[in-house]
Amino acid sequence: MSDARAITELAKRRGFFFGANEAYGGVAGFYTFGPEGAALKGNVESAWRDRFTVREGNDEIEAPTIAPEAVFEASGHLDGFDDMLVECGECGESHRADHLIEDASDIEEAESLPIPEVEELVAEYEIACPSCGAPLAGRPVEEFNLMFETTIGPGSGQSGYLRPETAQGIFVEFPRLKEYARNKLPFGITQIGRAYRNEISPRKGLVRTREFTQAELEQFVNPDTDEPPLDRVADVSLRLYPADEQEDPDGGYVEATVGEAVDEGIVASDWVAYYLGVAREWYERIGVDGDRFRFRQHLPGERAHYAADCWDAESEVGGAVADEDLDDPTAGDWIEIAGFAYRGDYDLSKHAEHGDDDFTVFEQYDEPRTVERAVVDPDMSVLGPEFGGQAGDVADALRDLAERNPDAFDGDEVRVEVDGETVTVDTDVTNFRIEEQTEAGEHVTPHVVEPSFGVDRTVYTLIAHAYDSDVIDGEERTYLSLAPEVAPTDVAVFPLVSDDALETLADDVVAALREAGLSVAHDDSGNIGRRYRRQDEVGTPLSVTVDHESVEAADETVTVRDRDTTAQVRVPTAELAAELGAILDG
Ligand code: GAP
Repeated sequence: MSDARAITELAKRRGFFFGANEAYGGVAGFYTFGPEGAALKGNVESAWRDRFTVREGNDEIEAPTIAPEAVFEASGHLDGFDDMLVECGECGESHRADHLIEDASDIEEAESLPIPEVEELVAEYEIACPSCGAPLAGRPVEEFNLMFETTIGPGSGQSGYLRPETAQGIFVEFPRLKEYARNKLPFGITQIGRAYRNEISPRKGLVRTREFTQAELEQFVNPDTDEPPLDRVADVSLRLYPADEQEDPDGGYVEATVGEAVDEGIVASDWVAYYLGVAREWYERIGVDGDRFRFRQHLPGERAHYAADCWDAESEVGGAVADEDLDDPTAGDWIEIAGFAYRGDYDLSKHAEHGDDDFTVFEQYDEPRTVERAVVDPDMSVLGPEFGGQAGDVADALRDLAERNPDAFDGDEVRVEVDGETVTVDTDVTNFRIEEQTEAGEHVTPHVVEPSFGVDRTVYTLIAHAYDSDVIDGEERTYLSLAPEVAPTDVAVFPLVSDDALETLADDVVAALREAGLSVAHDDSGNIGRRYRRQDEVGTPLSVTVDHESVEAADETVTVRDRDTTAQVRVPTAELAAELGAILDG
């Protein structure tokens, strides 16, 4: 376990990630993944694709990262995707007002507070500018839209934005994707790609950046008929931190299986609960420490403009909390690594409203159904409320029909109000007749359940949770106990000393292991202890050393060293690839 500074230092020294464009002074919020980081991140993405695309039977797409303004007007991002900005009157630096309040007080999730209250809290806690120390009290707090704007094409061109989430690229293409899915719900579309947010104050390295990678799944369901395969994850244990527990000063975690969370109504949506279970298993598989992991429900004021309910996967990355104190939800440095939102029909309805396409799915009934419909007939006379009794009779007839069949009143045809709710009668339109119609199916606007993962924060969490140290031969060593599936390199091969015969055999071993599909590092410089340390620090699970015995003994054996225990065994080169493959596969 370690703190942010140790992780950042290791990441930079060993080529995991570092601030981008440093030769030009760098700009906050942009990071380059070095060779180790790019390999680790690529492996996380592959593991995600394996679990959430392939094994779930979903399909992956790749949409553009820039979209025209109309898309974000429809999605609500143009109006609703804001953070609270306070600008220092002294030095002109901008900061996130809600973060300053959280840092200065016990208040959590200050972003859910209204702006006047935030302004009052800035004054109450005498918050000073983190850049120059000047007081911020009295400064206005403003909404700042996080999207990067750009111009598409030369001249004044068309206004566009870099996507703030990969999700919109899926929603916008829904009319084509539903055809691909043969108009059959449920179906899921995934996308892994860059997202851009002009964060007011990027911080904590990879945790809050201005360009990052998301892995998102948009699960399209018919809310009335589609059920998730809950039995697959019913026994998975979840550590849940529901909103009501957060609001209770004595509140704590609720430990429940997925099945219990559904049965007891702790997680309202079965689909969300299903994906919490899938995600819990996946995080464990890639090496997230289960003791430093939880699902926290959003407080009502915290939810994004599109979400009816949302649970975040959070990981503790501070490393300063003892295991026994992790039962206290307020202890530790928790970051959100994924969100599981019930988006309802918000997105598809908005695109249907603004876009020029059909965002519904026509769901066939098993058997055609005969239904009564009120059909407006322009040839009939129009009776309004001013016609008193006649209109009242019509309204009664409508009410009667509505009680028998509330679906009888469609869109802009005729509506009925029964007992003040359900359906509305527009008594201005009474020129209708009631018809029996046979219907083969109905148009459904699917609801969306969205597991949305931050890949960079997952990478950061994996490094934080894998970071460990011990003392070997009286010397302290740092190592990353990364899961083999995500470790940047499978195996390192070293000739023990500089010697032609050893180097030749090491080259042959490297070639054979690469041929077998393993990722191999080859290092022949420096003393062997240092070479081990280097591989330990980048999390390489296994090291192979070619020594004199390797070239002298008839069976040509090499030593295989385990990163975590440092134990060594001799393995014949002829069996090496198979042996290493078996160890790596666990
Ligand atoms: N489509 C839903 C969506 O974008 P979100 O909670 O805003 O939801 C999903 O983002 C995930 O993306 C977060 O859980 C986080 O892991 C990651 N993320 C969001 N903003 C980020 C940032 N500025 N830097 C790094 N990762 C970020």
